[in-house]
Formats: sequence, C-alpha cells, structure tokens
Amino acid sequence: MNKHDVVTRILGDATRRCGPAKRQGTGEAPANIALCKYWGKRDTELNLPVTSSLSVSLGTLGTRTTVQQAETTEDIVLLNGAPAAPDSDFARRLNAFLDLFREPGGPGWRVETVNTIPTAAGLASSASGFAALVLALDDWFGWALDGRSLSILARLGSGSASRSVFTGFVEWHAGEAADGMDSYAEPLDLSWPDFRIGLWTLSAEAKKIGSRDAMRRTVETSALYRAWPGQCAEDLPGLRSALSDRDIERTGALAERNALAMHATGLGAWPPVLFWLPETVAALRAVWALRDGGVPVYATMDAGPNVKVLFEANREADVLSAIPALTAVAPFG
Ligand code: PMV
Repeated sequence: MNKHDVVTRILGDATRRCGPAKRQGTGEAPANIALCKYWGKRDTELNLPVTSSLSVSLGTLGTRTTVQQAETTEDIVLLNGAPAAPDSDFARRLNAFLDLFREPGGPGWRVETVNTIPTAAGLASSASGFAALVLALDDWFGWALDGRSLSILARLGSGSASRSVFTGFVEWHAGEAADGMDSYAEPLDLSWPDFRIGLWTLSAEAKKIGSRDAMRRTVETSALYRAWPGQCAEDLPGLRSALSDRDIERTGALAERNALAMHATGLGAWPPVLFWLPETVAALRAVWALRDGGVPVYATMDAGPNVKVLFEANREADVLSAIPALTAVAPFG
C-alpha cells in the first residue's frame, strides 16, 4: 500500500481526471502543539505512528493556502509571498504531495502559502501547511470530505498534519491497520477557554535535522526508544482525564514529562539527536524557577530548540512579567 493507493481509496479513481470545481480553492489550518507527542513511525511511507498522540491547536496561528491552475506547465510555489526555489525541500515535498491528486502531464498548479508562524523552527508549520493544503484542495475540487478523510489525507503529507485539520484539543488514533484507514485524528469534545500556551522562540533558524530523519534514527538506534510506547500508554489516558477536569497541574506535569521523555530517546540514538540549544536549557530552568515560586507553569518542546509554556489565564500576568519574550496564545479564542 502506498500513498497513491490511499488517495484512490478515499477519493476514487475518477477524481484525478475530473477538473477543479471552481477557479481557486482556499484552506486555513492552525498549527498544533502535542501534549503527548507523536514520535516514531510504524510505516514511514504512510506516516503511521507507533503511538497515539494528543495536541492543542494554536488558535489563529497557522497557515492559509490557496490553490489554482498556473499559466505555466511548471508548478509555481509561493511561500510567504516569495517564490520557493523548485529544488528546495519545501517545494519538493509539496510537489510530491500534489502529484497524488493529479494525472501526470497536466498544467502546473499555483500554490500560495502564508504562514503566521516561523517555518521549520519547531513550531509545527508543516502540520498546518499540509492540513491547509488538503483543505484548499477539498475546496477547489469540491470533494466535501468528512473530517476523518481530511485527516488521513493530511497525514500523508506530515504525521502531525492529521491533527491540524481540527481546532482545540485533538487526539490522533495510532490505528493498527496496514493501510492506515484507522489512523486519523478527532477533536476532543472539550473546551477550556482559560488554557494558554506561550510560544518562546529562542531561535528562528531552520533546524539541522528534520523530525522525519530524527524519528527514523531514534527508532532504529536508540535502546531508550523501547520505553516510549509504554510512556505514551501511561500519559495519554492521564492527559485525557486531566483535560476533562481542566486541571493545569496534572495536564502540565504530564505534558512536560512526555516531552522530556521524547527528547531523552533522541539522546540515546546514534549519532545522537539533540534539538536543544543552551538557551533551551536556560528557558526550562526559568520555567522551573517560576513553578518553584508557586506559579503553575509547565514546558514542552518539539523537534527544535524552542520552548512552549503551558499555564492558565489567571497567571498570564505573572508568566509574562517573568518571561517577557513569550507570545501567549489562547487556543479557544
Ligand atoms: O509531523 P512531523 O513529521 O513534523 O512530526 C512532528 C513531531 C513532533 O512535533 C516532535 C511531535 C508532535 O506530535 O507534533
């Protein structure tokens, strides 16, 4: 089973031959930050994960994408208003993904992507990027797919994109089927208006190793990775329960421990996978100092050096005065 087969299973064969339903399609999707991480694939082609994961979306921060026919035979890809070099990683990944949805030899497509978060700085822009692209294609072709199908298609671009087709707290079920039709995300029926996530950008440079290679290396070479599925099996039900109680102390502690455990598996890989900068350690210590001082504040980190901070609205002033560099996001508006 390859990506092409999955697309055919969802859309049928005819869709690639049918033209778009309108002149252009638009899609918008939020970035998301995992509280229980997706780390390691059981199928690298279909982006099927070893474990289930759970994230919170970043409100209005994310990606807006429009798709239309180009006047050239080549694709035109614009990222934040500037043409992306055709041999860049970004353009190549995008073109390969678009090829899943068209017959070879047709006209080029023009894809315009605007990110409201720094690209490739560990703030999950590939997640919102592929989710917004799938939503734009759905709009352009008039497929009117349900959330589950949209999530599966977005997963083919980037695993965490499966969660970005929804807002709020979202769980991605790992699934067991070889074709991945049971591996999709679903929003939790749960709103927590006082939940805050602070973005602490310590470096906006593109990371040296992407999540794909880092995961593969960790799964293949780190003995510590063997403990990871057990860690998630413990953290995930704990998180679901802490979230439904709107308990910031349990939620934060579980999310922070899960993130640190994920990064620890990378340290056991060879060559080692370490995303942290000295600033990352200093930021973690600052969060811990604030917590020692009585403020319920917790940290999480993804495949990059930046830190995200979890807290509740009633402590926003304390957190921002201790960490002025933070951008506070209210996922529920
Ligand atoms: O979707 P990817 O391949 O960019 O992987 C994302 C991995 C983490 O951000 C580290 C964890 C997660 O669940 O988002």
